[in-house]
Amino acid sequence: MTAMAASDEAGGARTAARFDAPASALEPIARDLTRQMARGLVGEPSSLRMLQTFTRPPSGRERGRVVVVDWGGTNARAGLVELGGDGSARMVAEDTLTFSEADKRGAPEPVFDLIARAVGRLAQGQGVAAAPLAFVYSYPARLERIDRAIALASTKGWRLKGLEGQDVAALLGAALRRAGLERIVLAAVANDTVAALMLQSYRARGRDAGARPADVGLILGTGTNQAADLGPAGIRNLESGNFDGVGPVETAYDAALDRELDEPAPGAQRFEKMVSGHYLGEILRRVLRDLGPRWSASPALAIPFALDSAHLSRMAADRTAELDDVDARLRALGVPSTVEERRHVRALGAAIARRAARLVGAALVGTLRFLDTELAARRTIAVDGSLWGGYPGFEALVRETIGELLGVERASRIEIAYVKDSTSVGAAVIAAVAAAQRSE
Ligand code: BGC
Repeated sequence: MTAMAASDEAGGARTAARFDAPASALEPIARDLTRQMARGLVGEPSSLRMLQTFTRPPSGRERGRVVVVDWGGTNARAGLVELGGDGSARMVAEDTLTFSEADKRGAPEPVFDLIARAVGRLAQGQGVAAAPLAFVYSYPARLERIDRAIALASTKGWRLKGLEGQDVAALLGAALRRAGLERIVLAAVANDTVAALMLQSYRARGRDAGARPADVGLILGTGTNQAADLGPAGIRNLESGNFDGVGPVETAYDAALDRELDEPAPGAQRFEKMVSGHYLGEILRRVLRDLGPRWSASPALAIPFALDSAHLSRMAADRTAELDDVDARLRALGVPSTVEERRHVRALGAAIARRAARLVGAALVGTLRFLDTELAARRTIAVDGSLWGGYPGFEALVRETIGELLGVERASRIEIAYVKDSTSVGAAVIAAVAAAQRSE
């Protein structure tokens, strides 16, 4: 190894170490989250919104056909879901659409029209004239009823003009009517974290009516968030992506990213900006630009979001001797690299992802302690999302952190259930529960 490469390596290791998140730094983060949950719930200042969801745990016997809309990122889908009444569910058909960057910054109506047209195609293809519809809106929204949700400031790069303060359920209803779909009637609006939680409960109780419902729903994809069943206070959407108690593990890279993005605004979604799929690649890009003149001179590496978390996942999974995948990615960014350099890049990506997983572990501990200070009972966390499913070993890192913070015995009572593709099916469960509530 040349002297230059050796000093690069030392520099790379130092940079990677900045993303360490030892238990001593995570413990105060977990405690802060528990405290902020309590404050948010009683309306005191808090970075956690603790939003009402107007749903309750399913019995597991919900049945019927529900049209669902899942909108939470660059893609949206319309689907037809059939609930079997015994914890089983099936996606009968789906229609996907992709939004452009222009869609994300325009007026809301054209976006709702695109969604309504996808519902129209699905309904026509499946011969559905009339059905209840469940709408998963995976952005912050204050529900006032199960079918009324007032949009708060958006996340994940969306900024529709004038959306804030409007009822997204009413906007979708109006778009459905414009598309001639008057008999597809919005029955429920929900967050994706709540859909994950509800699907896990529906499955468990469909198998065994006495099974305890899930306690926490976690999404770790483009964005991140948690929902939790607080018993008498109901199932709440924490909007934990906005948690601001991240100071103990924040780096200069995080501070710069937060400051320089205009959407979400500086100071908003601090936790999400360090943890979720939308940002991990961007953090790595910023770190790479700092590695030396060759890196900072690459025009491709100067483009914000030129790296995404799928790249991080692929780099982490690269088991080739010469790190071929890392090489290919760096070449695409105009930076030819030595094997040593590729190892640094891979280690940096791993350090960023590992910190994300450890922060998620700490946040879950914070929520679990709010539910049960002593963690005496068994608890179930339902998880979904592309980062959770796609990054090699992510779940093991989260579990390891929970073990460090809670101790082996308490941690052994926490079950983490991966509910893949939960959003649409979970939304159908929520609509069926809403129908049962209405008929009571
Ligand atoms: C949104 C949440 C959502 C999460 C996961 C966040 O950006 O604010 O509402 O649950 O992403 O999709």
